[in-house]
Amino acid sequence: MTTASELYKGVMMDHYHAPRNQGSPGSDQVTARVHNPLCGDDLELGVTLADERIQDIRFRARGCSICIASGSMMTEVVSGRQVAEALDLDRLMNEWFSGEATEPPSGLPEPLPALGPVRHYPSRTRCVLLAWEALEAVLDRGD
Ligand code: FES
Repeated sequence: MTTASELYKGVMMDHYHAPRNQGSPGSDQVTARVHNPLCGDDLELGVTLADERIQDIRFRARGCSICIASGSMMTEVVSGRQVAEALDLDRLMNEWFSGEATEPPSGLPEPLPALGPVRHYPSRTRCVLLAWEALEAVLDRGD
């Protein structure tokens, strides 16, 4: 059983306290803004694409610690990747957070497995997936 105190520690809290790639999207970036209707929090993402690769990525969030940590981790792992690779990671995260498997799917890079304890709190799933939803929207627009 995962307790709330186990949830708010380690790598996840490091990303919450020191988010990577945090900042306002630039006017030259492809952007998307998504919100969590359950709490009203939102997240804005800006991506610069070059040759089907994520060259630069930034996010700005008004959200809970899980949302901010997840946004930080997502931007860290997709930065520099091909769009197709980023969409594969998006699929893995969505499958992991909607399925029964307790272990992180193979191919999920660090530090994403650190979000695993959140799976014990289904009401917080959206907090994790909000950043990925923004990524999907941006990559959809960037085609
Ligand atoms: Fe709003 Fe987590 S409680 S995004």
